[in-house]
Amino acid sequence: METKNLLLKIDNNIGLITINRPDKLNALNAETVTELFQVLKKLRQNDSVSVIIITGSGEKAFVAGADIAEISRHDEISGRIFATRGQRVYRYLEKLEKPVIAAINGFALGGGCELAMACHIRIASDNAKFGQPEINLGLLPGYGGTQRLPRLIGTTKALYFLLTGEMFDAQKALEMGLISEIVPQSELMTRATKIAEILCEKSPIAVKYILQAVTEGIEQNLDTALHIESELFGNICATEDMKEGTAAFLEKRKPNFKGK
Ligand code: COA
Repeated sequence: METKNLLLKIDNNIGLITINRPDKLNALNAETVTELFQVLKKLRQNDSVSVIIITGSGEKAFVAGADIAEISRHDEISGRIFATRGQRVYRYLEKLEKPVIAAINGFALGGGCELAMACHIRIASDNAKFGQPEINLGLLPGYGGTQRLPRLIGTTKALYFLLTGEMFDAQKALEMGLISEIVPQSELMTRATKIAEILCEKSPIAVKYILQAVTEGIEQNLDTALHIESELFGNICATEDMKEGTAAFLEKRKPNFKGK
C-alpha cells in the first residue's frame, strides 16, 4: 500500500507506523489521517501482526497537532466533518483488538496528544512535550482531547491544561498517569519494541478481551462493566489458550499460546 505521509514496517509480528512529515513536525493533515485509517485497517486484518507501535519521524516531534494551515480554512460544516472524521479514526484505533503502543519521541501536541491518548500504552522519550494548545488558536480540541484527557488525568488537571494551553514535560506526564514510563530518547524504540515483544508472547485472545473489557467497561456503570468482564471471563474459559496457560503453570513450563 502506497502512503505519502506514513511509513509502515512489519517485522516479527510487530507493525511499526511512523508519521512522516518531519518538516511540519509530523502535523496531521487530512491526507495523513486518511492514511492512518487505511494502515490501521490493513494491520487489523493482517494475521501476522499482533502488536502495533506508532511513533513520529525525526527526533523532535511525535505529532505537533493537526495541520493548522488546513484548520484555518474550515467553516462550520467542514469543521464538524474534520472533527468527526478524526474522532472516528482515533476511536477505531482505541477499539482495535490488537494493542497499540505510542512511542512518544518529542512534541505530542493537540491532535498528537489526542493520538497518543487513543493508544493503549504510552511511553515517552525524556525530551517529550505534551499539551492541548488549541485554546491559543481560538479553538478547542476536536479529536477527543476534551474527553480523554479528563478521563486519564482527572478533570481538575485536565481543565487546567485545556484552558491554559500550557505544555508539560514527560516527568509531569508520568506523575499525572498520562504515560507509563520515560526512556532516554536513544532507547525509546528499543524499549517500545521490547514491550511489543512481551505482548506478542501473550494469548492474543486474552489480550483482545482485556482491551475490550477496559475500553467498553470504562464507559459503563460498575455493575454493567463487571457483567462485561464476567461474560468475557466465561468466553475465555472455553479457549485452548486458557487450558494451555493454566496447564503450563501447573506443569512448571512456559505456555505455548496458539490464539485458539
Ligand atoms: N500544523 C502545521 N504546521 C506545523 C504545526 C501544526 N500543528 N506544528 C508545526 N508546524 C510547522 C511550522 O509551521 C514550521 O513550518 P515552516 O518551517 O514551513 O514554517 C515547522 O513545522 C517547524 O515548526 P516551528 O514552529 O518552526 O518549530 P519550533 O521548534 O520553533 O516550535 C512547536 C515547535 C511545536 C512549539 C511549534 O511548532 C508549535 O507551537 N506548533 C503548533 C502546535 C499546536 O498548536 N498544535 C495544535 C494544533 S490544533
